[in-house]
Amino acid sequence: MTRYDDVRAAAADWQSFTSAQGVALLPEFNGNLVGSVLASDPPEHDQLRAVLSEKLAPKGLSKVRSDIRGYADQLVEQVVSRGRFDAVVDVARVFPINVVADLVGLPQEGRDKLHPGADATFAGFGPFTPYLQERLPAVRGYHEWMAQMTDRAKLTPGGWGEVVMDAVDDGRLSMLGAIKTISAYMTAGMDTTVNAISAMLRLFADSPEVWSTLKSEPTLAGPVFEEILRLETPVQGFFRVTTKEVTVGGVTIPKDQRVLLHWAAANRDPGHYPDPARFDIRRNPLDHMAFGYGVHACAGQGMARMEAVTLLEAFIERVDRFELTGPVVRGGNPVVRSLDSVPLSILPARS
Ligand code: HEM
Repeated sequence: MTRYDDVRAAAADWQSFTSAQGVALLPEFNGNLVGSVLASDPPEHDQLRAVLSEKLAPKGLSKVRSDIRGYADQLVEQVVSRGRFDAVVDVARVFPINVVADLVGLPQEGRDKLHPGADATFAGFGPFTPYLQERLPAVRGYHEWMAQMTDRAKLTPGGWGEVVMDAVDDGRLSMLGAIKTISAYMTAGMDTTVNAISAMLRLFADSPEVWSTLKSEPTLAGPVFEEILRLETPVQGFFRVTTKEVTVGGVTIPKDQRVLLHWAAANRDPGHYPDPARFDIRRNPLDHMAFGYGVHACAGQGMARMEAVTLLEAFIERVDRFELTGPVVRGGNPVVRSLDSVPLSILPARS
């Protein structure tokens, strides 16, 4: 499904389009997913999602905002003082990974496995490509490491990991459920935000007028992020399975069919967004499908928005202009729209 109205209606109708048989394409990968927050239906889904809902609600997030802003300042200060850096390698793959790993309460040791592991895991939602085949060892290493994170001794007190383990202690989650929950939040919170931030920094180098407008109106930071998510939708799509015969756009889909909800295509549907391939700083498309919709709508969207906006605030204070210093390298992940390299130089802010 590629049209905005169809994708949105299917995402809203979990009774006809189930996630409980997995949201990946292949049975080998759905086997591991089933029973996680992402691959379950209500009421089981709602219980799994409730475990971390307080931490990710606006009140929970407001408690960590100043720490995240402090980390953004520190990282941006560091790259700005160098003058030249890679937006993907030095910023986008560093900031969200450490923010989420700190919040979960994961040790420093082993964090280097997180981005390659999450990226490979996302590739496993799609077809069996050479990209995925080459990365199967990374998927295994990542999941083995994540399984060790149910050892409380490894987790920082007060973090999301400890909240998940409390749910095991009082019988709300099984141990396997705990592993699936920690890895669902870690995986979902990485490649997604990493690629949204990469795309955003690339845009500022490609379109200096967008950066100048943002500098003069910093309250546009939120709308800039929403428009980037619409245009560069990091998660291209996830699957559902029909539980009965359904008719979509005049086409009848039989029961038990795996259907792709193509978030990225929906976000460029000219029937919903006029001139969809154009970045419009004032569009503020809050109804985009980059975070999905319905009961499975992204649990970390407030977090992702906070990460992007704090990072933008830190750059706005310190940078007058971004320039590309070499070719942009696109990543090969078939499920996530990704960038591997965006080499930049900056002109520091005058004041
Ligand atoms: C720009 C960043 C992000 C994007 C584009 C994104 C995208 C998505 C999408 C499309 C879904 C819907 C899945 C479906 O309907 O099958 C989703 C679900 C989810 N996301 Fe995100 N995500 C982002 C950031 C995050 C972050 C930072 C976290 C947590 C730290 C997170 C945690 C989750 C979880 C746990 C789910 C499953 C929710 C459920 O099934 O109820 N995401 N995300």
